[in-house]
Amino acid sequence: MTKAGRSVSAECAEFNGSGQCTLIPSHGPESAVPKRVRVDSYPTQEKYGWVWVFLGDLPESERPKIPELFPEYEDTAGWHRIPYGFEAKANWMRFEENSLDTAHTQFVHRAFGSKRTPKLENFPIETREWGAKVTRTKPAPKPDQKTGKMAELLSVERRTTTVTLEFSLVGLCHRIQPTFKEGMSQINFTARTPIDQKRSRAIGWQARNYLKEPEHDAERMAQILIAVEEDLSVVETVVPPLTPPSLTDEFLVETDSMEVAFRKACWKWANKGWEIDMDKFEELSKSNVLVIPSPERRADPKNWVHKSIPLKPVGSRPGE
Ligand SMILES: [Fe+2]
Repeated sequence: MTKAGRSVSAECAEFNGSGQCTLIPSHGPESAVPKRVRVDSYPTQEKYGWVWVFLGDLPESERPKIPELFPEYEDTAGWHRIPYGFEAKANWMRFEENSLDTAHTQFVHRAFGSKRTPKLENFPIETREWGAKVTRTKPAPKPDQKTGKMAELLSVERRTTTVTLEFSLVGLCHRIQPTFKEGMSQINFTARTPIDQKRSRAIGWQARNYLKEPEHDAERMAQILIAVEEDLSVVETVVPPLTPPSLTDEFLVETDSMEVAFRKACWKWANKGWEIDMDKFEELSKSNVLVIPSPERRADPKNWVHKSIPLKPVGSRPGE
């Protein structure tokens, strides 16, 4: 016996795509379910092979669009791509700052850090509504730092590598594109998700316009994992583990301009009253299930079982 095609032997409550409970098993399928038995549901969109979730309560007309940071995803003839994913025992801001820091590659990464000089030229960055972009030319690594097929392709001495880097707070994603030489480039497109204050998850695509045969994937993946381990050895041990509350609490230099842009972007939106108050959250979480409010909760704020997360007040972060 079914109701609306549903098995009545279900052992769990059932919910529809809007988050409304449609079945309480102990009440049976004929029993009406009160409206209050519902959970927040969030808008989703598929793009770049992933499902993107908008974790917020803005109506559709006010939601920012997923950034167009990886158009090469559709160009499967020109770019061969492989997926990767990893976690860090690090706060999401610290984790992202690691990727945006163009100076660290010179001394953290064996294969693509330059052993010639750590000095970088300073290049102006372009700020965007939700992020920033920079293109930097830096000293290239020596040919003997490369291994495998990359060593063959880059056996001739090079002076520089050009790296374009762009991030967006929407989706908390970034694109890093080094161009090794004319016609030889790769893109790392990565999105991050906070798990909690001290753990983060990353997923990404690496696309390359060289060595496009799948037989080279294993070597490229091995190099990605080496670079990840090198980054984690730094970002998981950085002190303090959370980004300081103001720019003057650390000594930031000119080549930290992307990290500064990232912090300012985070604080800009935090100042709208969109930042979770984590101290209150941890206290309230001891005896409450707390959820990020959804568009439905904003439109109909009464009659919810779970409470909304506590937010910091408007203007609680440094301004411009
Ligand atoms: Fe790195």
